[in-house]
Amino acid sequence: MKSLVTILLTIGFLLTIQACGDDETTDRRADVQQEEGLTEFELEHGIGPITERIEIDEEIDQDLLTKGRDIYEMKCEMCHNMEGRMVGPELGNVLDRRSPEFVMNFILNPGRMAQDHPEGQKMLREYMTVMPFQNVKEDEARAIVEYLRYYAEHN
Ligand code: HEC
Repeated sequence: MKSLVTILLTIGFLLTIQACGDDETTDRRADVQQEEGLTEFELEHGIGPITERIEIDEEIDQDLLTKGRDIYEMKCEMCHNMEGRMVGPELGNVLDRRSPEFVMNFILNPGRMAQDHPEGQKMLREYMTVMPFQNVKEDEARAIVEYLRYYAEHN
């Protein structure tokens, strides 16, 4: 009798393990599919309206810089520090880890970046907040990049 119980328990246990294993495989397959659904460009530079590399002069454009700083102070500073995390990640060094195009796509399309881009998904898990779209236009996102470049060069 005792051994029957043991056998039944063992079978139950094995079935459970197998069920978990299946789930994991499905998850992993979904992950791969998700990433495969993105183009090389999207994986590297983000999902959004910026679909090719942009040209950036080495020299800082002063007009863009001023415009970018104004928008940044109005629409970004409430959630981001240049040094250290706040509601979102620190941005003073963001261009060390992301391309300008990635940053622009993140600003212009934060919802899909958090939902569908592997890096966005990772950040969402860490920060537990989806960055809201701040009504920023493409030329304004470009200006913010100029400010972030300037900041990185001068700090
Ligand atoms: C309400 C808070 C909030 C505001 C306002 C906000 N962000 Fe974010 N941002 C976040 C959070 C949270 C994340 C990371 C989580 C996610 O959404 O994936 C993030 C992520 C980012 C990233 C990706 C960073 C990386 O390491 O890849 C960039 C770039 C960014 N924000 C730029 C901006 C800019 C520029 C503005 C202003 C136009 C702005 N954010 C406004 C909360 C905010």
